[in-house]
Amino acid sequence: MSTSRKISARIVRGTARNLAALAAALRRGEIVGVPTETVYGLAANALDAAACRRIFRAKGRPATDPLIVHLASAGDLAGVAVPNSAAYRLAAAFWPGPLTIVLPKRSVIPDAVSAGLPSVAVRVPSHPLFRRLLKLADIPLAAPSANLFGYVSPTTAEHVRAGLGKKVRLILDGGPCGIGLESTIIDLRQPKKPRLLRPGAVTRAQLEQVLGRPVQDAPKKPRSKSKAQVAPGMLTRHYSPRTPVVLHARLTPEMVHAYRSDEAWLFLTKPKGLRAKNVHELAPRGDLRAAARKLFDALRSLDTAGYRRIHAELAPGTGLADAINDRLRRAAAR
Ligand code: TXA
Ligand code: MG
Repeated sequence: MSTSRKISARIVRGTARNLAALAAALRRGEIVGVPTETVYGLAANALDAAACRRIFRAKGRPATDPLIVHLASAGDLAGVAVPNSAAYRLAAAFWPGPLTIVLPKRSVIPDAVSAGLPSVAVRVPSHPLFRRLLKLADIPLAAPSANLFGYVSPTTAEHVRAGLGKKVRLILDGGPCGIGLESTIIDLRQPKKPRLLRPGAVTRAQLEQVLGRPVQDAPKKPRSKSKAQVAPGMLTRHYSPRTPVVLHARLTPEMVHAYRSDEAWLFLTKPKGLRAKNVHELAPRGDLRAAARKLFDALRSLDTAGYRRIHAELAPGTGLADAINDRLRRAAAR
């Protein structure tokens, strides 16, 4: 196995044969692209430090940014982390699904995975092919999003190949991701003081309902780039296209007409009758789930279309809107 520049990734379907080959590759210490319900991941054996270091090399990710560990079932949680009753309650309510829980780690999880932190971030994904692969491989799989560090997360197998095609040999095709935004991350190291580290499809209100107490935000200020990050993507610029992104509370046809056609307009729901090559819509009829699903693909395709700037509209309200707006703000941060 090598990560030499000559290899070009093969996208494979989830046949029994291919899944067996992928599981064997993972057990040998190889890295592979995998579908999840949130975004595509770049997976390796979470118990093998050398395999996990290949993830960091392939992505160009700083070793200070810890990885999420994926399990086949909640029953495996106590093998990698030290759970508490709050964690079990959230696991029962939201796993398998787009929720990651940060807990004290067990020593089987290498420091390479946790970036030296005494904690580990864990989730049980719901994508059926990824779950089958986890069961077949029979090891926990560390997987960050399968993009070059700092770029927009991938929501199709093609996105993975576009960024990492020369760094991985195999990408499992599970179709476009159903959710399209990275998982919600909650820090439960202090179960009486739960903290939301990253908003996602599991909303703060849902977490508070199950926990029966308020869930606070993580402290705002990034500490330093060189220390392990306690919260994800705390380097503000993250998930960013190369084209500058400008955010607006509301987009209007007047704004589109006032600029030249080399600026792109990403509406949530565009007004009827507004049609132009540089005008795009994420949420027909205001469907925020559709917006979440399409956001990263839209940012990627607008980024390669050669526009001078991308103007994007923030989502109204809370819940999933918080997660969408978090990714938009990071995309726009300079
Ligand atoms: O939806 C997802 O979560 C996707 C799919 C592949 O599962 N994964 C993902 O991974 O988004 P990534 O690497 O892009 O984001 C993981 C974040 C990192 O930014 C990291 O800071 C945080 O999780 N994280 C990992 N371990 C942590 C820990 N022990 N304490 C606090 N944050 C942690
Ligand atoms: Mg990422």
